[in-house]
Amino acid sequence: MTPYALTYALHVLAALVWVGGMFFAWMILRPAAVSALEAPARLKLWLEVFPRFFYWVWAAVLVLPITGVAMLHLRFAGFDSAPRYVHIMMGLYIAMLALFLRVQALLLPELRRAVAAEDWPSGGAVLGRIRRLVGSNLLLGLLLVGIAATRPSF
Ligand code: HEM
Repeated sequence: MTPYALTYALHVLAALVWVGGMFFAWMILRPAAVSALEAPARLKLWLEVFPRFFYWVWAAVLVLPITGVAMLHLRFAGFDSAPRYVHIMMGLYIAMLALFLRVQALLLPELRRAVAAEDWPSGGAVLGRIRRLVGSNLLLGLLLVGIAATRPSF
């Protein structure tokens, strides 16, 4: 296996974990939890789910730029000579990272406090904000993978 192939595989696997995890959470687990659980149990479930998932998102957040920049050098001889879609990929990565950090650093602690205080209405409101941010990040991630896979020339 060439160094490029290994780097490429790690890059695509990291993208798969992050975007696929958000797809599962938003499209499958969220509606299932709404139909099967009352608000308190649902909020407690998400409080168990997010930290476990975010552990893997942190891994993807680190692996993607490291392998991405390595591929820039192995394949395109640097940032300037890389095609436009790679520049767009980097921009969308920064947007995805910002949304993720907002959920991780601001909203997750708020959700934890609301559940600890058994304040279910506040917890529900925080969960709604997390849902919207994760939905936006899922759309960005799907757009990014679509751009990466089709490699438009612009
Ligand atoms: C700093 C961040 C990033 C950099 C520097 C970067 C760089 C690159 C480079 C150089 C390639 C190879 C392009 C080619 O062979 O034509 C690539 C491929 C790819 N990237 Fe990224 N990337 C970054 C972030 C991301 C993110 C956040 C995702 C998705 C969540 C992603 C998904 C992909 C995918 C799916 C491919 C494979 C495309 C294909 O060949 O079909 N990348 N990236």
